[in-house]
Amino acid sequence: MARDSHSFSRPEEARVQRLELDLAVDFATKTLAGRASLEVARQPGATQLVLDTRDLSIARVTTSRAAPNAGGLAAAQPARFTLSPAQPDFGAALTLDLPPVAVAVAGGGAEVLWVHIDYATSPAAAAVQWLAPEQTAGGKSPFLFTQSQAILARTWIPCQDSPAVRMTYSARIALKAPPGPPLLALMSASNPQVARADGVYEFDMPQPIPSYLMALAVGDLAFASLGRNCGVYAERPVIARASAEFVDLDSMIGAAEKLYGPYRFGRYDVLVLPPSFPFGGMENPRLTFATPTILAGDRSLVSLVAHELAHSWSGNLVTNATWNDFWLNEGFTVYFEHRIMEALFGEEFDEALAVLGLQDLEKSVAEMTAAGQRKDTHLRLALEGRNPDDGMTDIAYEKGARFLQAIEETVGRERFDRFLRAWFDGNAFTSRTTDDFLAFLDRELLTGQPEWKRALQIPAWVDGPGLPSNCPRATSTALARATTAMERFLAGTPARSLDVAGFTTQQWQHFLRQLPASATHAQLAELDAAFALSQRGNSEVLFAWLLPCITHRYEPAFAALDHFLTSQGRRKFLKPLYQELMKSDWGKPLAQSIYAKARASYHAVSRDTIDELLKWRP
Ligand code: BES
Ligand code: ZN
Repeated sequence: MARDSHSFSRPEEARVQRLELDLAVDFATKTLAGRASLEVARQPGATQLVLDTRDLSIARVTTSRAAPNAGGLAAAQPARFTLSPAQPDFGAALTLDLPPVAVAVAGGGAEVLWVHIDYATSPAAAAVQWLAPEQTAGGKSPFLFTQSQAILARTWIPCQDSPAVRMTYSARIALKAPPGPPLLALMSASNPQVARADGVYEFDMPQPIPSYLMALAVGDLAFASLGRNCGVYAERPVIARASAEFVDLDSMIGAAEKLYGPYRFGRYDVLVLPPSFPFGGMENPRLTFATPTILAGDRSLVSLVAHELAHSWSGNLVTNATWNDFWLNEGFTVYFEHRIMEALFGEEFDEALAVLGLQDLEKSVAEMTAAGQRKDTHLRLALEGRNPDDGMTDIAYEKGARFLQAIEETVGRERFDRFLRAWFDGNAFTSRTTDDFLAFLDRELLTGQPEWKRALQIPAWVDGPGLPSNCPRATSTALARATTAMERFLAGTPARSLDVAGFTTQQWQHFLRQLPASATHAQLAELDAAFALSQRGNSEVLFAWLLPCITHRYEPAFAALDHFLTSQGRRKFLKPLYQELMKSDWGKPLAQSIYAKARASYHAVSRDTIDELLKWRP
């Protein structure tokens, strides 16, 4: 197994295989406190267990032979432990001494024992966001959610925080009830559908998962069923909109299973979070976390759900072994997402998404190349010593997906689908490297096919910069209409006379992306007046509009910009907008003053990114 430079743990010596959590959630002190019991398989001769922690206070460590509720807790013996000095992003290694092996293990195999850690989180734990009632849609109850990917699980659970280590888990979560209605607790596990008056919840996750998929959310939440094994959770004022937006969820699961085999995690639910959620979506098993900014009212942004659902195969079932192999999670998932969208909504609709994705990719490649970051445009990353967040670029997502599409086009769809299905089935519940995939590709698809192999240019994709010459392109007739509309507008046709009837979200995005640097304030004002762009509720269209408004210093849109930046915390929207503001002398103070208002409401993931961008000094 490849070494994971982003974890202090040494799973080849002693490996965590099960977690039993017992935590109290205290909204008053903003802490999670209790115990993590870890079942560890130790190799002969291993005398230590190393765990990742960050900002945790460790009160006590004990060990036992028996499981916690098989007498293990009562019989547990204190263990000596040390915490290394903390490093930024990585935290501190918790090293503990394991007791001597009691009896020789037959055949010299691994010995199993339990380690119990009494601990508490810090109110500043980077994974956890504690929201005040005012930051929720309901406005009456506090809210809590976690975001563990990539290496933030260690800020709320002591664990081997590496995607190469899988564990099953159970949890008992006890809420110290704030005043108001009983709150619902949810995890990446079996979930309740109604709140319990005593505030005590029990969870079970029988499938082994890596730590970055550990998740918890607590709030005044409602549930709506959307099918046989799926549904949606959201705050009460949002639940009707959410269930209307996701009516296709059941068919999406069906389409995914038809492509690459049975869904292996039981239920699939979506949790719509408050607007500070820093990502579009997060594929927490059994319970995708999603931003409310995809509730467009017309289902036009549901490809995000297709994406998170696809991770139930690419990511949650077969996992990248290290963050250098991130494209195995995200590139596969974007490819799979397109296949689901095509199956459900047709080739025409999916082509539009593909064109926009390719545009993003080409822009990113150009920017990264200009910034001297050519090596970051390789599919196989070199993130040693860096925050794995640096790998979350269009390269892993879009270049990764294009590579798979290039293979599909070379070998044919039928053969490729059989191959992908075999990849998921043959590697289910394991973590894999890029080399594992390349070996599988060679063996299963390219043996005896030297022309295919040559045509594919595999080394150029995996360990080369930019986009190889066989990168598949995309065209969309729907988007061509948007191009025509913009061309006519620039040639003098009044905005009100443009043919934009029935334009989709993606057509508006495409239209706005083509606003040239030479556009005048009069032209921007005309577009805004004709199409009410500053008033759009659709987050993607509003974003596509606000970006050129900054470039052109179109001040009539700045109230809308201020509102957008202070009312949601999705990093994909925040970063480019703040970045654009920071490019000019007039924009810098505006960025600083908006951020001063907004900062406290952002999750640490977004805050860290914008702090760096603005060189923020509190
Ligand atoms: N797993 C990612 C989110 C992630 C990646 C969080 C790396 C932390 C580190 C999730 O599946 C994702 O890709 N979300 C995208 C949406 C998607 C439709 C491209 C996002 O949040 O923008
Ligand atoms: Zn993803």
